[in-house]
Amino acid sequence: MTHHRQAIRCRMRLPAHAVRHTLIPVAALIFLLIPDAPARGQSAAAKFVGPAACTPTCHKVEIGALQKHKHSKSLEVFESKKAGEIAKKLNVSDPYASDLCLKCHATKIGSKEPEFGVSCESCHGGAEKWEKVHGKEDDKERMKKARPLGMADPRNPSWSAPNCFGCHGGMTGEMVAAGHPVKLDLEMAKELAGSLRHWEKPRPESAMKKWRAAEQVAGLRAAVDTLARSAGSPSLEKAAKEAVAKRLAGLKRAELKHPTLDALVQAATPAGAGPQQAKSAAAKVSQAAEAALKYLDGVK
Ligand code: HEC
Ligand code: HEC
Ligand code: HEC
Repeated sequence: MTHHRQAIRCRMRLPAHAVRHTLIPVAALIFLLIPDAPARGQSAAAKFVGPAACTPTCHKVEIGALQKHKHSKSLEVFESKKAGEIAKKLNVSDPYASDLCLKCHATKIGSKEPEFGVSCESCHGGAEKWEKVHGKEDDKERMKKARPLGMADPRNPSWSAPNCFGCHGGMTGEMVAAGHPVKLDLEMAKELAGSLRHWEKPRPESAMKKWRAAEQVAGLRAAVDTLARSAGSPSLEKAAKEAVAKRLAGLKRAELKHPTLDALVQAATPAGAGPQQAKSAAAKVSQAAEAALKYLDGVK
């Protein structure tokens, strides 16, 4: 299959003000990549090329699913009155130019003004180095070649869950005081099988068990971290405390049983008492969560 690089038409929904940029050929974008502050899921070694590279020819189904999802509107929300209020209170003069906002709301290509919201590479890894390699369908080794070049394997919940909660669990007291929503109760496994699903076959129930456990593990760690930085913000503290309790209960009910999951429950139980307790337990919780994710990584 060829990529028809010259004829790319980007069909992602874009914020009105950014439409003027959208027909720049992807090849040109790749040459324009300039080192920049890494965004979520974006390391210095794995720069973004933007979803226009995932052409409708190759990824029609996936692009269709993304267009229907709120993720594709995550830049558009900057146009709202509420966004203006949040930005003003945080002394951010332009959310489109502030890494404080862009790290969770955008696919940022070099130092250019972002054109896309959360998109393919937010979850599959920056594609600068693997975009060409991974699409060669006649090459049986293509995935083996693409992974070391930064292509993530999002089928592995031990990679994906921390990635989701990196954005969905990263709120600070200042952001919440400024009016930013805080929702720490993301139902990752359910959303994946529902609003986010962009693959043909439903995943088997055995895979979903792993996803549900990874959701509680990464969600618990994010909740404890949030609680640890919530001092002085009663609404963030309340949301984080509730999330810790909910995730702990979820872990105790988990269908998978393993000593690493029990150890995580033990480490996080005292943390749920408040910001101070969460602060002193955070490192231990994080370590226990890593061990639990490593265990889940090995579950067939
Ligand atoms: C740590 C990640 C993160 C950062 C940083 C972040 N956001 Fe968000 N933002 C989110 C998530 C996740 C949501 C969706 C919340 C939900 O519904 O679960 C969201 C939602 C919003 C909404 C929609 C509110 C609504 O009620 O519909 C606005 C507006 C917004 N963010 C503006 C901003 C602005 C402006 C900045 C920079 C000052 C910013 N965000 C920084 C993750 C972030
Ligand atoms: C919010 C995160 C997220 C976004 C955005 C996203 N994906 Fe995915 N994608 C995933 C996850 C997670 C899986 C694996 C789920 C599973 O195995 O249960 C996946 C699976 C896939 C698969 C199937 C892989 C396989 O080996 O079966 C393809 C292909 C894919 N995504 C392409 C895309 C494309 C193209 C886009 C952009 C149009 C995109 N994805 C956007 C998270 C995302
Ligand atoms: C790069 C940051 C980022 C990553 C990674 C990410 N999200 Fe999001 N997500 C957002 C932002 C920002 C919004 C808000 C978009 C909007 O309001 O238009 C959002 C919105 C959502 C919503 C809609 C919430 C609502 O209130 O309606 C769901 C569901 C969701 N994300 C699930 C997921 C899942 C599951 C994953 C992991 C597979 C994930 N997201 C990964 C940033 C991210």
